[in-house]
Amino acid sequence: MARKKLWGGRFSSEQDDFFAKFNDSLSFDRELLEADIEGSIAYARALDRAGVFSAKDRGKVESGLRAVLEQNRRNPNAIASSSAEDVHSYVEEALTERIGSLALKLHTGRSRNDQVATDLRLYLRRKEAEIEKKMNRLLIALADFAEKNISAMLPGYTHLQRAQPVLFSHYLLAYGEMLLRDRQRLRESLERIDVCPLGSGALSGTVYKIDRNALARDLNFAAASLNSMDAVADRDFVLDFLFFSSTLMMHLSRFSEDLILYNSAEFSFIQLDDSIASGSSLMPQKKNPDALELVRAKAGRVLGHLVAMMTVLKGLPMTYNKDLQEDKQGLFDAILTVENCLEMMRRVFANIRICPERMLESAATGYLNATELADYLVAKKTPFREAHEIVGKIVVRASELGMRLEEMPIREYQSFSPIF
Ligand code: ARG
Repeated sequence: MARKKLWGGRFSSEQDDFFAKFNDSLSFDRELLEADIEGSIAYARALDRAGVFSAKDRGKVESGLRAVLEQNRRNPNAIASSSAEDVHSYVEEALTERIGSLALKLHTGRSRNDQVATDLRLYLRRKEAEIEKKMNRLLIALADFAEKNISAMLPGYTHLQRAQPVLFSHYLLAYGEMLLRDRQRLRESLERIDVCPLGSGALSGTVYKIDRNALARDLNFAAASLNSMDAVADRDFVLDFLFFSSTLMMHLSRFSEDLILYNSAEFSFIQLDDSIASGSSLMPQKKNPDALELVRAKAGRVLGHLVAMMTVLKGLPMTYNKDLQEDKQGLFDAILTVENCLEMMRRVFANIRICPERMLESAATGYLNATELADYLVAKKTPFREAHEIVGKIVVRASELGMRLEEMPIREYQSFSPIF
């Protein structure tokens, strides 16, 4: 059945079915329903202030919009059966069903261009606050885990070669620092997202007396955008979020890689609980760290969304182009992926047992105290380069003898330097 379009007047032939499906975004932008209604309620108030709506009209529109939201909360599938092309058309249709033609006045001076930019900012701002909470929970889990194992030691690595012994807690809190920087990145992006595009119209503003500052305040934005063309063309705030997400995921991926290695039989530093591991359909002995492997892999997927968005934006002529509709699926997927990975990592920390003896054993072999030996010589006035050379030879000797440095007799040391 032919559906009523938002812009039918100019068109004489019907839309091709395949094109209609190709063009539609309702199946994914329905995620913005709440934000769209929130924006529309504020816009109805702005139209009231502008003298387009009477107070009574405004009241009807507002309660109609709330009813649409309520109906969708009760029955989230209501929207799925709609033939509207996107969430904005859906809300207008659903409102029209409730309050009749008055609903059609709501779009006065507004375009879906400023509408969708506003919706997406409202939506993402809320999601960012939720993500920060999840990050905080993970940080607390990490700090607790570090505190619980405060005195365990393990080899610190460079080039994946045993380098110097470090506290396990010190190692864990290195990732804590990375996550704190990620949280800072998230907070910094809030400043730029906190700007209201509504009232910019399609691209050049509007002839109606929309008080844009009041509208921005009403929606709890720090300010109204200054340039109407930029307001509808800009998706930098999506890039900001995707960059934050990609960096966070890259950190979680590195962390996962470490833990996967440490959980292997070769390292045996940690043991993942059965509850967060899975088995093999063929090899009965296997217990695989799938949770961590998935976190590691999903970093690639989120980075893919960043690259995709940057590529969509590059070369776009001013101002709005339908290309911008492609901003959503990657963003929504990145949000969900980040949320799930933060939660998964938190559960991982609640389900790891560490093997401090194995870690210590490993930190005690491989001459990780060689630097300390060189420093001993330096303390006795040997230049560091020379000390480095002497200790290098001592390490070779010790390994010939199959001994640790602390096991080798003092006369062996004396044969390399009279200082000993
Ligand atoms: N679904 C569209 C999007 O997500 C809404 C804006 C459409 N605007 C337009 N002028 N066709 O970008």
